Parts: sequence; structure tokens; C-alpha cells
Amino acid sequence: MTTRNVVLALLALIAITIAILRACSSKTITECSYKFPAYNPNHPPPAGTPASTVFALSQEYPSAYSPGAPGPWTSINFQTNPAGYATAVLNYCLEGNTSIDFKVQNNTVRKWYHAPWLHYGENGREWRHGLTRERNSRPGELHPGQTATAFSWAVGFYNEPGGYTIGKVWPDCGQNIPVPSASNFPEGTVGFKLLFSSATDAQVPYLRNSLTWTANTGPINAAGLKPGDPGWQPRTDHTMRLLQVDIIVKDNRSPIGWVFGTFVYDGYAAGATVWERLTPVGLSWGNDPGVTAMMNNSGVFINPGLSQSWINASLLPAAGAPVNAARVYHLGLGGRLNGPVDNLVSSCTSCHGKAAVLKDLQPDPIENIGRNPRMIPSGVTVPSDMTSPKFNDFFGTNIPAGSGDITYNCYISGLNNPCGGANPSYVFTKTDYSLQLAVGIENYFSSVQERARDYLQQQAETKRQ
Ligand code: HEC
Repeated sequence: MTTRNVVLALLALIAITIAILRACSSKTITECSYKFPAYNPNHPPPAGTPASTVFALSQEYPSAYSPGAPGPWTSINFQTNPAGYATAVLNYCLEGNTSIDFKVQNNTVRKWYHAPWLHYGENGREWRHGLTRERNSRPGELHPGQTATAFSWAVGFYNEPGGYTIGKVWPDCGQNIPVPSASNFPEGTVGFKLLFSSATDAQVPYLRNSLTWTANTGPINAAGLKPGDPGWQPRTDHTMRLLQVDIIVKDNRSPIGWVFGTFVYDGYAAGATVWERLTPVGLSWGNDPGVTAMMNNSGVFINPGLSQSWINASLLPAAGAPVNAARVYHLGLGGRLNGPVDNLVSSCTSCHGKAAVLKDLQPDPIENIGRNPRMIPSGVTVPSDMTSPKFNDFFGTNIPAGSGDITYNCYISGLNNPCGGANPSYVFTKTDYSLQLAVGIENYFSSVQERARDYLQQQAETKRQ
């Protein structure tokens, strides 16, 4: 048997099991509850850890949602008052959450939800706060005094319309295979993400007095290593400081249906609490597709040609000695909005616009099942690497919101060795700008493949005995 056949057999088995459950008892399906793992099971909490201190996934995805009163940001024009809009959304995200340390299922104002299947793999959720691994910050990216690479871990949340959509994408309480085409977030969906950095305030002064979380974040084992293998290392605890807070809002006034925003923590800002010291970095509602001016410029600058990103100019470093207060030392490509820990040759909307999974559930080779397209062109690490064709591939269109199909050339697709094939275009199903949905679905299929490989290995070992 080949890996392909075992993967297909496993998927068929899932479908048959669900069909039998449906036939035998409709109750099993309709009254089920979600039981997605909360954290990477290869890195569990020590025995005896009280359950109350272990991260629990907020996964009672509602089968309906109430539109409720329009959010306070809906009366604000994000183009003329971007800071006001961002702050209104931030306050909505924080309400009821700060006093419960973001155990969002206990929020008495409104419930929030986590996306499933982010526990999988070495970057998968850690057991203390459900953080997943994000991009490292290279020396100097956070502050000129930053000499050590800092690592970043983050956790994201969705409000009720978002939780409802997550439930649709993972039907039958997650017992069935995911349905990417159900990724259509309703108007009023809000998501936010808390990003923590391992950088100390000695390295990055504006992190002083930030929110600290102890998180079980690394070291990261090489791909394929399993617990018990020679060289396998368990994760250890690290002190992490809140650095960045991202927000996303489904808002039909935006050309892409979504508005993206981000805040940086500033220990030197006025404000009695950590939350009052968050400072808006910017807001964005599109890629500014035609604007190639300044795309090869490095550093941080305001690009006057952009009309779909607003950048808070007060965070630009002035000439002279670096200050302790928060400044941004890079933005996204050509001055587009990006967060302090994000990749400087991308932007919020260009990365998230690529949220999609390969449409065909039976691709050949099977290794590509559920794959996400590339978010960043390969070979581009600094703005001067960006060429016009690559710019057009990654920033040249404002991708419409919603699910639906999108065709990518073999270069963007990021699939295994497709460019040599006869058909260089691949059809993906979009996940409505949600990268947590896209990554979760990819992880799900990677796990099915892992099970198939383990099965074949066991068969081979049995034969040898
Ligand atoms: C380099 C690509 C990249 C850039 C740039 C980027 N993101 Fe993301 N973002 C991701 C990925 C990948 C995930 C999903 C994985 C995770 O959350 O751990 C994600 C997840 C999120 C989530 C959780 C909701 C979801 O389903 O996607 C939010 C909110 C978010 N990002 C906001 C932002 C904002 C705001 C910006 C710009 C300030 C931004 N992102 C820039 C890659 C990117």
C-alpha cells in the first residue's frame, strides 16, 4: 500500500463513521460536543498540575449567533478617524477579558472562541496559555539595543459570529473532515491576537511593566522527532512580555471586507494599566495594489502614495540617539501596515489575503492535501529583493472577502514540486482572510498523513519480525 492509499482510506473511514453515526442516532451528531486538543500533546504539563492552571480551548462553538447591537466602531469612519476606530475595537476586545487573564470562555460580557487544530506540531499551542509560535524578531528589529534574537508566541480569539463560523468549518463537532468553503465570517466578526516576546526590557526598554506570562515555549525540536527519540527535548518555561495586539474586523465598508489594525505596548506611555499604554501602530483595509513606489526601500517611513493603510507617524524614530519609548523600526513592504514582530516584506492584508487551502481533497502527490499557499515570496528577505512580478503576485490584487475558489500559479501555491508539471495552476479554497482556519486545516491533514506513515512503518516492522 502507498501513503496515498492509506491517507485516502483514513479519510474514507472518517466519512463512513460519520455516516453510520448519523444513520444510527441523529443525537450523536447534533448533541455532540467539541473535543479538540487544547495544546501539543507531545509537550504536556507535568503530572499533578492543577487543571485550573492548564490552558482550555474555548470550543463551544455556537450553532447560531445573535447580531446584537452594532459594535461601537461601526459609527466611526476608519479612513478619517483610524485611531478612534482601532481604539473602539480594542476596547471591545479587552472588555471582560483582562480581569480573567483571557480565559475567554469565562467572560461574562461576551464569549470569545479559539480556533482548533493549532495544537499540532512543534509550533503548536503550549499548555499554559495556548500560545503558538510566531516569527522570531532579529536583532535590532524591536529596538536598536536589541542584540539577541527574540522569539514570539501568540494567542488569538474570535467573537461569537467568528466562533459560529469556526463551528461550520469543523462540522459534526470536529469529528468530520473540515469544510473550508464554509469560511464566510458574518459582518461584525472580530478577532484579536495577543503577541508576546521573549525580549527583556533591558534589550527592548519600552517593554518595561508590560503584562508578563510564563509560557512553556521551546526549545523547538527538529521536524519528525518524537518524544523518546534521541535528541528530543521537552519544552521549558520562559517569561514572555506582551509586545503587540492585533485586531481584525469584518466591515463591509472596506474594499477587502476586513479592517486590520495593530497596537504596540509602550512602557513609557501615559496610562495607569498595561491596556491604557497600548499605542496604535496603524490600520489597513487593503494592499494598495497599484502602488509600487518605495517598495524596495528599507527602514521605516511614511509612503505618501498609500491610501489603504494609515500609519501612526508619532511612532517613527527621529534622528539621533534611540529613545526608550516605543517606536517602530520597520513596517511592511513599501510602508504598508505590519506589526513589530511581523515580516518586513509582507503586510497584514497581503499575508491574510492568502488564507486558503488546496481545493482538491485528493491531490497527487498526496503530500499536498490541505496545503496553504505561500504568504511571502521565496527568496525575498529584505525589501530590495522584491521584484515587480513578485510584487504583483503578493500585493497586486485586493482579494475579495469570503470563501470561494482562487487560482494560484505554481510559484505562489508553495506545493511540492508542482512547477515542473504540465498544469502549473492550482485551485485553492479561500478561508476568508483567516489564517488560523487555513493553518488548522493544513495541520489536520498533516496529522492524517502522519498517521498513514506510522501505519505503513508498523506494517513494515511487522513483516520484518
Ligand atoms: C507573514 C504573514 C503575516 C502577516 C504579515 C500578518 N499575519 Fe496575522 N497571522 C498570520 C498567520 C500564519 C496566522 C495564523 C497562525 C497563528 O495565529 O498562530 C495569523 C493570525 C492572525 C490573527 C488570528 C485570526 C486568524 O484567523 O487569522 C489575527 C487577528 C491576525 N493574524 C492579525 C494580523 C494583523 C492585524 C496583522 C498586521 C498588523 C497581521 N496579522 C500580519 C500571518 C501573518
